[in-house]
Amino acid sequence: MTTRRLVLSRGAALVGAASTGLLLPQIARAQSNKIRVGFMLPYTGTYAQLGVAIENGVRMAIGERGGKLGGREIEWFKVDDESEPSKGVENANRLVQRDKVDVLIGTVHSGVQMGIQRVARESGVLSLIPNAGVHAATRALCAPNVFRTSFTNSQPTLALGKPMVDKGLKKAVWITWKYAAGDEAFEGFRDSYTKAGGTIVKELGLPFPNVEFQALLTEIASLRPDAVACFFAGGGAAKFIKDYAAAGLKDKIPLWGSGFLTEGVLDAAGPAAEGIMTTMHYADSLDIPKNRQFRLDYAKAFKSQPDVYAVQGYDTGVLLSQGMTAIKGDIANKQALYKALETQTIDSPRGKWTMSKSHNPVQDIYLRRVEKGDNKVIGVAAKALSDSGAGCKLAA
Ligand code: BEZ
Repeated sequence: MTTRRLVLSRGAALVGAASTGLLLPQIARAQSNKIRVGFMLPYTGTYAQLGVAIENGVRMAIGERGGKLGGREIEWFKVDDESEPSKGVENANRLVQRDKVDVLIGTVHSGVQMGIQRVARESGVLSLIPNAGVHAATRALCAPNVFRTSFTNSQPTLALGKPMVDKGLKKAVWITWKYAAGDEAFEGFRDSYTKAGGTIVKELGLPFPNVEFQALLTEIASLRPDAVACFFAGGGAAKFIKDYAAAGLKDKIPLWGSGFLTEGVLDAAGPAAEGIMTTMHYADSLDIPKNRQFRLDYAKAFKSQPDVYAVQGYDTGVLLSQGMTAIKGDIANKQALYKALETQTIDSPRGKWTMSKSHNPVQDIYLRRVEKGDNKVIGVAAKALSDSGAGCKLAA
């Protein structure tokens, strides 16, 4: 109702603007002083929980900072993207064209992100990526108005190969969902594992979000590698962990992975997850004041334990809030806005991080082991790791 009324009144204002020569951003501000923030996240399907955790984190960070952005009230909008790449452009346009958001926060799935990226590049709307790690978003298709607060898909796995080889695990099978997130996570694993002296004996895959793992687990058993490394996330990760144990592999072939494997799924996976080793830019047990406070506050507010997705959402809210404060809410001043977002240091539950030139976090990657239902930090696997940003003109 509110949306329709605003869109109509903006349409009328635009006619006036054409005749008077006024610019659209000035009209938008005259119509409403509120900042329009749109969430495009999965609220259904295998990544549903991830979307909810991200939204919780964003709202928590902004709430802690007074619930406004640069002194301006917020109007919120939401679209469920269902982790469906074929609807990515259409869903992004529902927020950008129909709801006229000033900021689009989304999404989780790399394929859907490509739709958002297209709309963001065409419209110039500020796009904050709170999860999806697709390389292109901050490499060849990077843009001044696109900022990622999470990771690139190969960032966690670039730190995975060496600790595996250090443990004497020299022959590995890789298994994943076959889409950008899994394929690019593999790139990081392949580069780090082979550089450390490991050999990948087989790459296995199945389409997203398929969870019929049985035939592939049988193949792993017959290959008898020293270890298995993987990318899975959300509901499918919990199923993979349980199926791996049920197939009798848990105590025979150590399971390693990009840390999403054990994020937000430890209750669902239960004892089957114990001992899994992963690399990730966050860990539940990270013993820094910011993380301890964050975990207490999040659990109190949402009656559930936070995970990396909640942290990424929180950091998105912090980045947006700090950036908007720096420009005193004048979101139409794009150059000042981008400069402000580029130069923030985020005091995150994951540890402090900064933005790379291609707009992706420069951050520590932790080695973790699942112990008594928690992702316990074993050590720092890579310090201040930056993505290459290859092909990004902003980085030149
Ligand atoms: C992705 O599609 O980029 C992704 C999804 C879940 C966790 C990590 C990455």
